Amino acid sequence: MITYCKEKRLFRLSGKSFDYVMYVNDAGFLQFLHFGGRVGNDCDFFTAYGSTLAPNPQDRNFDMAFNEMPSEYAFFGHGDFREPTALIEREDGGLVSRFRYVSHKITAGVPVVPDMPHVRIGGDTLTVVLKDDFSDTEILLNYNVADDSDVLARNAEIINTGKSPVTLKRAFSFCTELPDDKFNVMRLHGTWGAERTPEVTPLGHGAVRLHSLRGTSSHQMNPFLGLLRRDCTEELGESYGFQLIYSGSYALTCEDGPFDTVRVQGGVNDTAFCWRLAGGERFVTPQAALCYSDGGLGKLSRSYADFLRDRVINPAYVKKRRPVVVNNWEATYFDFNNEKLFAIIDEAAKLGIDTFVLDDGWFGKRDDDTTGLGDWFVNEKKLEGGLKTVIDRCKKNGLKFGLWFEPEMVCKDSDLYRAHPEWAIHKEGVPLAESRNQLVLDFSRKEVVDHVFAVMSKVLEENDISYVKWDMNRNITENYSASLPADRQGELHHRYILGVYDLAERLTSSFPHIFFEGCASGGARFDAGMLYYFPQIWTSDNTDGYERAKIQWGTSICYPASAMSCHVSACPNHQTRRTTPFATRGAVASLGAFGYELDLSKLGAEEKELVKGQTEAYYKTAELVLSGDLYRLINPFTEDYFCEMLVSKDKKQAYVAGERLRSVPLDKNRLVRLVGLDEGKTYRIEELGLTASGATLVRHGLLLPRIAEYESWTWHIQEI
Ligand code: DGJ
Repeated sequence: MITYCKEKRLFRLSGKSFDYVMYVNDAGFLQFLHFGGRVGNDCDFFTAYGSTLAPNPQDRNFDMAFNEMPSEYAFFGHGDFREPTALIEREDGGLVSRFRYVSHKITAGVPVVPDMPHVRIGGDTLTVVLKDDFSDTEILLNYNVADDSDVLARNAEIINTGKSPVTLKRAFSFCTELPDDKFNVMRLHGTWGAERTPEVTPLGHGAVRLHSLRGTSSHQMNPFLGLLRRDCTEELGESYGFQLIYSGSYALTCEDGPFDTVRVQGGVNDTAFCWRLAGGERFVTPQAALCYSDGGLGKLSRSYADFLRDRVINPAYVKKRRPVVVNNWEATYFDFNNEKLFAIIDEAAKLGIDTFVLDDGWFGKRDDDTTGLGDWFVNEKKLEGGLKTVIDRCKKNGLKFGLWFEPEMVCKDSDLYRAHPEWAIHKEGVPLAESRNQLVLDFSRKEVVDHVFAVMSKVLEENDISYVKWDMNRNITENYSASLPADRQGELHHRYILGVYDLAERLTSSFPHIFFEGCASGGARFDAGMLYYFPQIWTSDNTDGYERAKIQWGTSICYPASAMSCHVSACPNHQTRRTTPFATRGAVASLGAFGYELDLSKLGAEEKELVKGQTEAYYKTAELVLSGDLYRLINPFTEDYFCEMLVSKDKKQAYVAGERLRSVPLDKNRLVRLVGLDEGKTYRIEELGLTASGATLVRHGLLLPRIAEYESWTWHIQEI
């Protein structure tokens, strides 16, 4: 709900359990007042409080007061020496601006964010118009808030209302300012194979900047920044999340300023960025999702999960039962033929799997990673009879068929590159880095996106395909687009990701029956932007039963379990060489969108029985993965166990999966409290043959099993 107090020019945006309050101060600036738990409707109180921080136009030192004013969109050049939210360069090189309130409107529903992922449904939108004192530039700030959500979605639009062009040197999506700095900062950092590792450090003075310059949201730093009260735990205390609905090069910064307040802002990365706006043009920034929790980090995660599932991810698929796939990548890599694939397919149906996914290597002349990307026609030498033969085999076995693409790439050794070398991102005279022997196609060019759409559409039209895995395996380097003029080269990264979104939009809407899974060299583009198009994303190439528990834990900080594609793979694990029990790999994978990544035909009878049991069990809990609430019970980064629980919204059903991560000589009895259950209900724990009240399970807990390192357990819990 959005309320406006006309007399005090005060806005109050109320979500499920938070309020966001701001007002237009006497000097005409939109000033932040409160973001946090519910407050009273105290307009006089808040404006009196705000005026102590607002610059007073009568004051001779007026400009200096900007360093203290909590701004809703910070501008540059007036004695606010903290980082600005936008930097707008005019024709004469001037950068100074000062934005004041002009008008506002409140509308039902979501704001329009053209050509980019965004909140699809729900709530009301406040749009505040600000105007620069010194130029013909306007900024529209959009705020969307819904009664049943703890997420506030925000973005900004910068409009050149004059005739001369201006250049945006920074154009962030949002700015907000928390009134004290007693926080720890959380980020999700990583590498390939170790994505989204939570790291929490004290917030000190100065600026913390999380960012990617890679053209993707990256393995290295996810576009999420958390501010956690120093006493915040999984279930208690306050925390804030700042997440971008964006998949390209981004920045999120938080700055502890001279008055011990924290300015948080972010959006498209401003390093090597510029955006030219001719008269009348506007730049729309990606949306950011701000979240407040008064129930620890766990509640923050559950609020984000609900927000993404209910309001961002493609509604056609978000809560539909997901295919349980077997993918041939780790089974065969590039070395496959019909027989090898048939052997996997023939086993799959018997074991309860419903979709076979053919990964990299089916197209062009691709027998290894040196050739073929860009040539999206089947390699009949490898697959005699083409895709049809494989698809027919799947159908005969009652399986659906999925196919891998890497649409944004080209190999030098490909027909596409030979025909269009200029389509690869490159700079004449600069040697090209061929990461994984491939180059990035210049998706800022419409003709490139049109071409890829046409060739992919042909494959998707001509074959019975129900699933597509969209991969992306390298960063953008040698940044330069032959199609952009010199003064627009800084637009490349953002234009590139707009091209990716364009292709994703066109493919998903042209082929609504196809389920799309995102992937980027594992989880290098696991973000809310990609989730808008693809309901699930390959979480990581690391499927080791021990490491995966950590990766999924970190990913769950701001993404739902249903978004994480999780597979059981062979041992020794191909990434870590570690051997963990088959059951453990299954238990860990069962906490997300479940599948397999191994050669089923090579499994022994005992393992095949385990697969059967795992798929059967998964169908029972799949609904919890899709729409349940996740409770992180034991932290694998700090403890010898890992344990998570999924609970249905009505709290009638729950599922716990856990793993012993490290054995110690003298085992102690240890209880785990099942905090997500309803204390008023009575539950049966299937595996233990026990019945207990929710109160006992929540307040006392269950004993952890005494098992060896890497062994696991599951508890299926049902209300009786
Ligand atoms: C990287 C992905 O993460 C893998 O799952 C696999 O699809 C390979 N690429 C194929 O090249």
